[in-house]
Amino acid sequence: MVHHADVHLRFEMEILAALCLHLALMAAFPSTASTPDLPRTEPEELHAVYEIMSATGNEWASRIPDVCRTRWHGIKCSQPDANNTLHVTELSFGVLSDDTAFPACTNMEMAYISPAIARLPYLRRLFFYKCCISNPKPIPAEDIAKLGGSLEVLVLRQNGHTGAISARMLASLVNLHTLDLHGNSLSSSIPPSIGFLQNLVLLDLSHNHLFHELPRLLSTLHSLRVLDLSFNRLQGLLTDDDISKFSNLYKLDLSHNMLSGSLPSVGFTHLQNLQLLDLSFNSFSGPLPPHLGLMASLQALLLNNIGRLRSGIPVTLRHLSQLETLAITSVGLVGEIPDIFYGMDKLKVVRMDDNELTGLIPKSLGSLQQLVELNLSNNRLIGGLPFSEDVTRRLHGRLNINNNAGLCFHRNSQHSPVILEGTHACTGMSGGPVILAEKIKGFHSSISNPREFVAQSNLFSSSPFLDSSSTNRHDAPFLVLSRVCILVVLVDLVSF
Ligand SMILES: *[C@@H]1O[C@H](CO)[C@@H](O)[C@H](O)[C@H]1NC(C)=O
Ligand SMILES: *[C@@H]1O[C@H](CO)[C@@H](O)[C@H](O)[C@H]1NC(C)=O
Repeated sequence: MVHHADVHLRFEMEILAALCLHLALMAAFPSTASTPDLPRTEPEELHAVYEIMSATGNEWASRIPDVCRTRWHGIKCSQPDANNTLHVTELSFGVLSDDTAFPACTNMEMAYISPAIARLPYLRRLFFYKCCISNPKPIPAEDIAKLGGSLEVLVLRQNGHTGAISARMLASLVNLHTLDLHGNSLSSSIPPSIGFLQNLVLLDLSHNHLFHELPRLLSTLHSLRVLDLSFNRLQGLLTDDDISKFSNLYKLDLSHNMLSGSLPSVGFTHLQNLQLLDLSFNSFSGPLPPHLGLMASLQALLLNNIGRLRSGIPVTLRHLSQLETLAITSVGLVGEIPDIFYGMDKLKVVRMDDNELTGLIPKSLGSLQQLVELNLSNNRLIGGLPFSEDVTRRLHGRLNINNNAGLCFHRNSQHSPVILEGTHACTGMSGGPVILAEKIKGFHSSISNPREFVAQSNLFSSSPFLDSSSTNRHDAPFLVLSRVCILVVLVDLVSF
């Protein structure tokens, strides 16, 4: 029994597929006879492209007589030069998002990056995304190194690479501005020759097995905007010197490593452009420095599990007027929560759960108009809740104050019945009977991870090449089809 809509869908898909194929054939084999004065792809580069394409299982490319004149998504070429010759400047592989599908590696177990890339002397951008993941190999460093100063963007993201990051490769790619090796199995230290990449704007080596210390020369990269080394095994200290040169940085993510020693302090004051700081899950010690509050542009401060600090909350955080996410969980925060939130109008998420905070919940926390999530559970807070009915309604299921034995509701306050459900009466407070807010029922969060929350803002995407795995798949058949279409079809006619 097939649903009417399914039949309808399949019908539409078949028409679309037929149309795609037709267009593909027309585009791949243009009927017009080529005239001698049309620009042509440089022959050496043409054959290099055929080899690179067939190494990824895209043999169809070699049936295209001139790759720069009959392009597909994922190849770009220069304008004709003085000899009327076209040069290949960009090659991209992998299904990036639903509307950006470069050629995929169709024969996954065999796909690799062909050494022929070394024969593309004009290549500015080389991009592989989840392409060679089923055929793990080291990065073809020698071949990439031959591209030298022409290469500006090198993205080998979730591409199955093993082995080391080659120091010699880095040393030769002097004009690189984007280096994205996220999500491979690279296992080495970060070579000091990273310091040669003086034009680097984005460096993302996150989710690998990189070890040893941060290279000191990193801090000589003055153009750097995004530095993401998260989810590695980096050790050693993070000094004021290391970070104070990063005055252009927007995003600094060193989370999920093994960094230790005391946190930097005055160094933070140089990070006036920083919007996201994530040092979560490391082994730092010492108090939270007051200088954290002097990063004027900060929108997200993520210091979860950065070590057992036994620190108070610096009152200077009140200066972070752009802050939207404040997460300092499981670090042994002690003392009272200072009443500093009046000027922090943009706060949406506050998490300080699993600490040893004492005293009252400050009034200013209850006055935040944008707040959508507050987790203060597992502390030693006491007293009444400073939240108006409006605030509790807004936070509803995203207010978690569990496991604070001393927190109480005043019985005559207007808290919603949902909040009061499952609570117990407590005694000994002035002003009549109160109810212990030991357990707030129905706590759940639609924002399960502050990193994801932050990632909703483009500013924080570590790379313009975001993983599309979380996109809505309700129209999957069409997406698959449109990919097939783009990949089989893969052709735009170039209009010269
Ligand atoms: C054009 O071709 C000549 C001879 O092959 C060569 O010497 C010259 O460098 C070429 N010009 C360009 C801009 O590539
Ligand atoms: C709130 O904090 C508690 C205690 O640390 C934790 O178990 C819970 O998962 C947190 N909730 C969210 C949504 O992060």
